[in-house]
Amino acid sequence: MPRHVAVIMDGNGRWAKAHWLPRTAGHRAGVAVLTPLLEAAGEIGVEVLTLYAFSTENWGRPETEVDSLMSLFLETAKGKVTELNERGARLRFLGRRTHLPVAVQGAIEEAEKLTKDNSHLDVYVALNYGGRAEIVDAARRMMQDGLKPEEIDETTFASYLYAPEVPEVDLVIRTSGEFRISNFLLWQIAYAEFYVTETLWPDFSPEEFCRAIVSFATRSRRRGGI
Ligand code: IPE
Ligand code: IPE
Ligand code: MG
Repeated sequence: MPRHVAVIMDGNGRWAKAHWLPRTAGHRAGVAVLTPLLEAAGEIGVEVLTLYAFSTENWGRPETEVDSLMSLFLETAKGKVTELNERGARLRFLGRRTHLPVAVQGAIEEAEKLTKDNSHLDVYVALNYGGRAEIVDAARRMMQDGLKPEEIDETTFASYLYAPEVPEVDLVIRTSGEFRISNFLLWQIAYAEFYVTETLWPDFSPEEFCRAIVSFATRSRRRGGI
């Protein structure tokens, strides 16, 4: 059983195109998948779920799409956080917060505060997240703290990441058939297993999540051993 599953929720745009809808409708359909997925993850016994919602590179999309995504994050925070709280999820956010709209930053803080004592499932949302940015931010903070080179090892480094308390990723799921990592959790996926599905994110179901978990269970994780 994977303790930590990380999901690259990709394919909203292609789903919208296939349905003759605007891209925003794809993002909206993508949000609807979240509740059943979190429910399934909690039931199966996954401890941590990390969801890639917006990358540091996604700012490069047309302004209208970025704006509608930010509005959707706000709307989702308003609509879903109470529900997630009732289901016992603890919400945390990963990424460079100061670059996000002030209203989104406020919603993030509120969601974290509201859910901080929950323990059924830890949900991390990667928002304005980049794996390289995270590594650079960790290095900067180590220098600010005046660490000497000989004090820095993998354990120290990991303690400067955005969420040092999280166990390393066991399984990465990517939807929409793309075999790439797109700057997601570069440090934490060192020995993660991969599951790529052709399914577009708005069509991703709890059943498919279970298939990914079953696939994970058949893997032999050698971690450099034999
Ligand atoms: C993923 O879907 C959602 C975000 C990156 C915010 P996309 O918007 O990347 O969908 P495709 O890849 O264009 O189909
Ligand atoms: C990765 O998807 C980011 C998120 C799912 C938030 P992208 O659609 O941005 O990745 P690329 O452009 O296909 O690499
Ligand atoms: Mg994409």
